This record gives sequence, structure tokens and C-alpha cells, in this order.
Amino acid sequence: MQNMKIVTIIGARPQFIKAAVVSRQIKKYKDIEEIIVHTGQHFDENMNDIFFEQMDIPVPDYNLSVNSIAHGAMTGRMLEKIEEVLKKETPEWVLVYGDTNSTLAGALAAKKMHIKVAHVEAGLRSFNMKMPEEINRILTDRISDIVFCPTNNAIKNLENEGYASFDCRVLKSGDVMQDAALFYTPKSIAPDFSIPSQFVLSTIHRAENADNKKNLENIFSALNYINENLPVVLPLHPRTKKRIKEHNLQHLSKKLMIIDPVGYLEMVWLLQHCSLVMTDSGGLQKEAFFFKQTCITLREETEWTELVENGFNKVVGNDKDKIINSFSESLYRQPDFSIDLYGNGMAGENILTALRMFNKTTGEC
Ligand code: UD1
Ligand code: UDP
Repeated sequence: MQNMKIVTIIGARPQFIKAAVVSRQIKKYKDIEEIIVHTGQHFDENMNDIFFEQMDIPVPDYNLSVNSIAHGAMTGRMLEKIEEVLKKETPEWVLVYGDTNSTLAGALAAKKMHIKVAHVEAGLRSFNMKMPEEINRILTDRISDIVFCPTNNAIKNLENEGYASFDCRVLKSGDVMQDAALFYTPKSIAPDFSIPSQFVLSTIHRAENADNKKNLENIFSALNYINENLPVVLPLHPRTKKRIKEHNLQHLSKKLMIIDPVGYLEMVWLLQHCSLVMTDSGGLQKEAFFFKQTCITLREETEWTELVENGFNKVVGNDKDKIINSFSESLYRQPDFSIDLYGNGMAGENILTALRMFNKTTGEC
């Protein structure tokens, strides 16, 4: 086996969690060198540093410090800076995760330099082209040399888009977030503040919810109503924190248990101990399932359709009445969580095996 150099591009919170899984696998191979490039997209201590510490992710070799600007500027500046790194490092592979601006910038920089691109968490679709993430993931998949799909539905999406005839290897790896949940659960930590014995765990950060005053007001009004029955614990994303202030919605946040974002190990504890999850996060919908919690999704659609098809998740959007009406039903629904939707914790290993096979001189898997 020849030596292989991989440049991993990360930048946002969910990417730290996904990359932690694959980096741990990479460390097992002496013939693979990983260079980590952090775009800087997320930067607060509790949105960034805490994940590297808790999850034992290697310190990034580069930090590009690009954040807090509009989509075009952010993606463009990342692209320019990643290109410089790739010129210097000349890796065989660039590894990108998920669907953020960091993902697209990494894939685009590499592909234009004829460096092979591997996309982890590929094939997801919301079919809503107004979502920045949908644009990022479609473009990233299309220019990748190998795509690692977490689910059968993701594979089907790519088949429907004609990937059988593209110069791209489509593999089902399983979900790296399932690997993370299994590996880190024994290390979970109770948060450093008093949490009610029963509670709803909620997160809100999606641009279409946070940036739109009416949508945010609807969601927070519904959460206030629910909070009268079951306390709502809400680790608040910085985007939403800013918008609550800008939209003058502070009065709707007073009664909820709003806390700063927590580390992954605390989040796993909250997922283990809550009664229900209400979120617009992509990752948290799956984690609800991993920890046998029903979920209400505060978006108009989801990429993780198998959760809805199997009765684990209800997609209700941001209508106040719909959210409230789904609350009792979801709280008492008891689906059978024994079904395997996201693999058995082997996604990281599967990804490494495929990359090593692909890298043989034949270029074939
Ligand atoms: C980004 C991703 C989204 C992902 C989310 C994970 C894109 C287009 N969006 O959204 O897909 O679900 O990350 O959380 O890439 N901010 C801070 N401190 C931080 C991080 C962000 O103050 O540590 C502020 C920024 O200054 C900005 C806002 O939060 O004002 C939004 O950050 P940004 O990275 O643009 O998008 P996210 O909403 O985090
Ligand atoms: N998460 C966390 N602390 C928090 C909120 C979320 O560790 O305060 C974790 C969560 O458990 C999941 C990931 O962050 O693993 C999801 O990231 P996010 O919701 O920011 O992004 P998305 O998945 O929607 O892209």
C-alpha cells in the first residue's frame, strides 16, 4: 500500500462531530497522513474548541479564519485560501463532510486542481432549492469522485439523478453520526446546571426559521405553550441568539430554559434524559432516533425521510398550531426503535477501507 495524504476540510459544529469519527480511524493507519484544514466558519469556544477537546480531534494544521460574512464572500474566501493549502500539501484526497459552505468550498477547490474528492454524508436531498445546504450538497456530490451515502434513501436519490452513468463511485457507508453516538455515549457528561427531571430538548438555528421574524415568533410561541406542560431546554445557536434580539422577541425566550450551546458529551446526556426532541437541526433528528426519542421537526421538509416513514419523526414546519398539536401525540407515540437505519457503528471503518482500496494503482474499489 502506497502512502496516502488526505486533507480534511471542516468548519462547522456538525463537521467536527463527523470528522472525529473518521480521524480516529485514520490514526490507525501509519501509511495515511491527515492534514486538517479548519475554515474558521464556527469559532466560539462552545461551538468549536470544546468539540476538539472532548472528542480528541487532532488540532487543525490550518485555520483560515473565514466566518460571519455573506454566502458568496464566505465560500469565495474559503475557496481561495483552501486552494493555497492544497497547492502546498498536494494530497491524494480531499475529504469533505455534510452540506455547509465549508463543504462546497473544499470540494470545489480540490476538483479544480484535479485532486480526488470524497464526500461523507452524500446523497441527502430536501428538494428545497432555497436552502443553502441543498445547493451545497448537490454541487458537492456532483464533483466528488467517491460519495459515502449514509442510507438507502440517499443512494436512491443519486440513482434518480443519474449517478450510475457519472464518473463517481457511490457507496453506502452507514452514518458516521451513528458511530459517534455509539463511541461517545459511555463518556457522556451531565451539563453543569440543574436540568428538570423531564423535559423537551430543542434546538433552532436553520436560516429559514431564525432569520424570518414571523417563523421564529411562531416557533417560540409554540415552545412557550409547550413549556407550560413540560419544560423546554434549548441550547441556543449564536445565529438564533442574535436574531431574537434583532427581531425583538426577547419576551418569548424568558420562560424557556435557554442555555449556551453545550459540548457533544453534554448533548448526548441531554438526548439520553429528555422526553422528546423538537428541532430544525439535521443531525439532531437522527440523534433523537439513536437515543430512542421521538422527534418533531420544525421545518417544512427533511432529508432524513426514513425517520418519518417509520414513525420516529413528524415534520410540522413552523406553524404554531401544528407544532402544538403534534406535541402530545409525539410525546406518547412509542415506535419500535429496534430497526437499523444508519448502520452499526462501522461507517468510519467502511470509509477508510474504501479510500484505501480506491487509492491502489488501479484506481478501482
Ligand atoms: C451553518 C451551516 C448549516 C449548519 C450549521 C450548523 C452553511 C450555509 N450553514 O449554519 O448548514 O446546519 O452551520 O450549526 O454553511 N456564529 C457565531 N459564533 C460561532 C458560529 C457562528 O457567532 O461560533 C454566528 C456567525 O457570526 C453568523 C451566524 O452565527 O452571524 C451564522 O453562522 P454561519 O456559519 O454563517 O451559519 P450557521 O447558521 O451556523
Ligand atoms: N450539538 C451540540 N451542542 C449543542 C447543539 C448541538 O453538541 O448545543 C450537536 C448535536 O448533538 C449534533 C450536532 O451538534 O451532533 C448538530 O449540529 P447542528 O444542529 O449545529 O447542525 P446540523 O446537523 O443541522 O447541520
